[in-house]
Amino acid sequence: MAPRATRRTVLLATGAAALAAGCGSDGGNGGDGRDGDGGGAPPDTAGQELISTADVPVGGGTVLADEKIVVTQPEEGGFKAFSAICTHQNCVVADVADGTINCACHGSRFRITDGSVEQGPATRPLPEERITVEGNSIRRA
Ligand code: FES
Repeated sequence: MAPRATRRTVLLATGAAALAAGCGSDGGNGGDGRDGDGGGAPPDTAGQELISTADVPVGGGTVLADEKIVVTQPEEGGFKAFSAICTHQNCVVADVADGTINCACHGSRFRITDGSVEQGPATRPLPEERITVEGNSIRRA
């Protein structure tokens, strides 16, 4: 009598192992690769060329909408960069004119010198982005 019980035990154990293997495979295929894109990307983009110095007007700036960065040149040869995401409600700022970085969504304006608020409704400055100037290229630091 004991051998029959042993065979059943073996079959049940095998079936359980097969089910477990199946579940494992399904779980492995369920990942969508999204777990790597959180939290900004300074290591991946460091050194990336953003714009030529000639494309940033003195006393003004240029919005790089795809990069979500605005590069300014308050004084000749002095370049700064800020996040182009408005601190009010996260619109990408529209343009740079008359010494300010301007958001078209609700009219906030930020100074090209330090990203501080010139006119609300935004209350917080645009965060500064780190850049380097190499020859004629402005790159992410
Ligand atoms: S999102 Fe820029 S002013 Fe509101």
